[in-house]
Amino acid sequence: MILRSRIVGCGSYLPERVVSNAEMARMVDTSDEWIVERTGIRSRHLAAEGQSTSDLATAAAQRALQAAGITGAEVDLLVLATATPDHTFPATATKVQSRIGMTGGAAFDIQAVCSGFIYALSIADNFIKAGQARTALVIGAETFSRILDWTDRGTCVLFGDGAGAMVLRAEAQPGTNQDRGILSTHLHSDGRHHDLLYVDGGPSTTQTVGHLRMEGKEVFRHAVSNLAQVVGEALEANGLKADDITWVVPHQANRRILDGTARKLGLPPERMVVTVDRHANTSAASVPLAFAEAVNDGRLKSGDLVLLEAMGGGFTWGAALVRL
Ligand code: UT7
Repeated sequence: MILRSRIVGCGSYLPERVVSNAEMARMVDTSDEWIVERTGIRSRHLAAEGQSTSDLATAAAQRALQAAGITGAEVDLLVLATATPDHTFPATATKVQSRIGMTGGAAFDIQAVCSGFIYALSIADNFIKAGQARTALVIGAETFSRILDWTDRGTCVLFGDGAGAMVLRAEAQPGTNQDRGILSTHLHSDGRHHDLLYVDGGPSTTQTVGHLRMEGKEVFRHAVSNLAQVVGEALEANGLKADDITWVVPHQANRRILDGTARKLGLPPERMVVTVDRHANTSAASVPLAFAEAVNDGRLKSGDLVLLEAMGGGFTWGAALVRL
């Protein structure tokens, strides 16, 4: 028998304010047609004034704890993925820790931009497999609206705010590819591509928060090939085939990237959970947001083989294979 991380609860939170493409077209020179055709995005949620990443994260975490039927006091590891923390330090995770009543264990942030949730999940899974944690709360939470250049139509129409969370519990399993829980996680980065997607500010360079800058076409090109590579790696590591996958819960950057990845895998697009139309790109929050939506509407069921994948600034990319 080996220790596996079972997903025993999930939750998400989206800010109340919904901004349509038509509203975006009143801010910058764009149109609903362009945004829908190039990205599949129709609307996005934006955080209210004064609403911070920790607020979104706490709301998602509370829902995940409730779904798992546990209290914050039972959590002994909290990993929060964000590129838009409340403050430079301390970690946004420690703020959430105090709000959910988690008094022991460790809470920290990790930063891998849009791949952040996969990184956080991988870290928590490894803590659990090593016996260093028993109950982990993994959160992806972002307020990208705070780092957008609202005069740049090439980026400001693409992103939204939100948060998602999962509770993981250690459970002994036989150690085969039919086990329940996280079967494996796969992480990659390539710092040579820093300049294709970055924020032009920071505490040790400009002493400002800065704005997101992206060479969209180049990012797009790398995304489809990196995602196909890491998905292949995850399947091969477990002796499984694309056909075995029940659902793909991908990072939601662009509908065309989702379709391109499905095509490369030979998977019907109906097996992809898609939220990009209503959430836009919420960076580290997009995978757990999509996961929670598909659990709550009954699509994801016990026993399903689910593939999570993401790609983001750095570049960073990764995947996780989970049997629910
Ligand atoms: O989550 C992290 C990963 N991020 C991503 O995966 C994003 C990946 N990239 C993309 O999703 C796409 O590249 C974009 C959606 C960002 C852009 O789509 P594209 O098909 O690559 O368009 P483009 O950047 O080549 O722009 C085409 C044209 C340009 O005009 P010209 O130069 O052809 O006259 C742009 O100026 O579209 C123009 N354009 C717009 N027009 C109306 C760019 N943004 C807009 C806009 N509205 N919002």
